[in-house]
Amino acid sequence: MLKDFTSESSIFVIMNSSIFKTNFFNSIQTKVTFQAPSNIALIKYWGKHGEQLPKNPSLSFTLSSCISKTVLDIIPISKGTDFSFDFYFEGKSKPEFHSKVKVFFKRILPYCPWIANHHITINSQNSFPHSSGIASSASAMAALASCLVAVEELSDDYADQKASFLARLGSGSASRSINGPITVWGATDSVEESSDFFAVPLSESDYNPIFNTYCDAILLIDQGQKKVSSTQGHQLMENHPFGVARFKQAFQNMEKLIKILEEGDLDAFITIVETEALTLHALMMTGSPNYILMHSNTIEVIQNVWNFRQETKLPVCFTLDAGANVHLLYPQKDAVQIEDWIDYKLKAFCQEGTIIKDKVGRGAKKV
Ligand code: DP6
Repeated sequence: MLKDFTSESSIFVIMNSSIFKTNFFNSIQTKVTFQAPSNIALIKYWGKHGEQLPKNPSLSFTLSSCISKTVLDIIPISKGTDFSFDFYFEGKSKPEFHSKVKVFFKRILPYCPWIANHHITINSQNSFPHSSGIASSASAMAALASCLVAVEELSDDYADQKASFLARLGSGSASRSINGPITVWGATDSVEESSDFFAVPLSESDYNPIFNTYCDAILLIDQGQKKVSSTQGHQLMENHPFGVARFKQAFQNMEKLIKILEEGDLDAFITIVETEALTLHALMMTGSPNYILMHSNTIEVIQNVWNFRQETKLPVCFTLDAGANVHLLYPQKDAVQIEDWIDYKLKAFCQEGTIIKDKVGRGAKKV
């Protein structure tokens, strides 16, 4: 069912956001460290409205090795006219990130008013190379949001919801990195308690355990290639000629995928995941302006995946994010055969032969 964006739904937005407002105004001096992983969407978030609200629900596998680790040093100060913070990435001061952090702080101020009377030093690092083309905003914003929420010492479930809520205000996909192995962001009739405001983990009793064993081999086809920025990408969906059909399709694909995950139907899983990936790129190609983000080697890999699957019947499939890299997804039970083929056949299509082997994981954790 498509959502309507009427004034009634705006009232709903305000009411739902307000549950994350806090009475925590304490003056504190503390240090807190969290690590949070990246995630790979199976149903894609592409199109947003209002303050970081999705036009359709999305679902992802949370990863485990591609992580950001963030340390916050927090000290009380008297309230100034602007936010007081420093930002270091991999040990180096990065003033170029200041405007992004400022926008984030401004958005979260109603929910974390204490940040206005503290100086916050942020030190962040990634486990994956910065130039790899792997989106770091999801893991970085999830780690930062987790640190901020930890300061307020909330109960576990509520803390996770608030961390996801804040992470969303930094980057939509980051809302899905707080929990794992499978999370859903965006209200859908297919998932109880799903919300546009924060992501929820799928309960393990609601899907086949094979999905807890899924591996993700990330083929770095074009490291450092500039992806379409998420701002440009989401904007492309405003007045996109296929926008209405796309949002409807995403709701339908979510409904189908939830059933498929429960049944453990791997053939049906492959169909939905690959359709979502190709749809994302089709939307970029048919928007205004047009973008082609697949590299010729991206297409070579896709063709190899289709041939290999036809020959071997092994359940390996691909998905793509907004760039040339390819994520190959497969269950652990078939990893030896599939990874032999990846190393033998697909390495040649990767820049400097780089492949990151990751698997599904459980989300953000305190370090
Ligand atoms: C293609 O979460 O990066 O990866 O909310 O503007 O930060 P912002 O967008 P972002 O968009 C992610 C788009 C995607 C699909 C997905 O992860 O669902």
